[in-house]
Amino acid sequence: MPQVSMTVNGKLRSGEVEGRTLLSTFLRDGLGLTGTHVGCDTSQCGACVVHVDGAAVKSCTMLALEAEGAEVATIEGQAAPDGTLNVIQQAFQDHHGLQCGFCTPGMVMSAAALLKDNPRPTEAEVRDYLEGNICRCTGYHNIVKAIMAASGQDVGAIAAE
Ligand code: FES
Ligand code: FES
Repeated sequence: MPQVSMTVNGKLRSGEVEGRTLLSTFLRDGLGLTGTHVGCDTSQCGACVVHVDGAAVKSCTMLALEAEGAEVATIEGQAAPDGTLNVIQQAFQDHHGLQCGFCTPGMVMSAAALLKDNPRPTEAEVRDYLEGNICRCTGYHNIVKAIMAASGQDVGAIAAE
């Protein structure tokens, strides 16, 4: 079987894959990074979002072999080594941006990509950006609030839900 190598959360990782192996499958089954969730088989839910060379990618839509040599970031690499949450993760906790948590890794990774490109998004921009991330529990309100809070904006005017 072909060998694939990529840098994942700063460490060089490699493994054998089939040509058809998805990046999400390689991360979860090959590397044990099960924080990247798989919530559909239609490329719609966004639970599998990771960063590939700095861009948010639905890892179920990419073959592992296509990530050869890439820099991949997953939810496991977002907190500090001592477990301190990053600003987006902390905002999700502070503003109750999750319930079951299934969508949360993808939401956090998408939010990180959004804030990199647009450090102070409007509420409408956050909602528009999250179009590819489905949450079955929260109604999105507190997710949007958390992302805006993570961008340093005052979310006091946004009603609690
Ligand atoms: S698992 Fe990738 S979009 Fe749903
Ligand atoms: S918190 Fe349950 S799917 Fe989003």
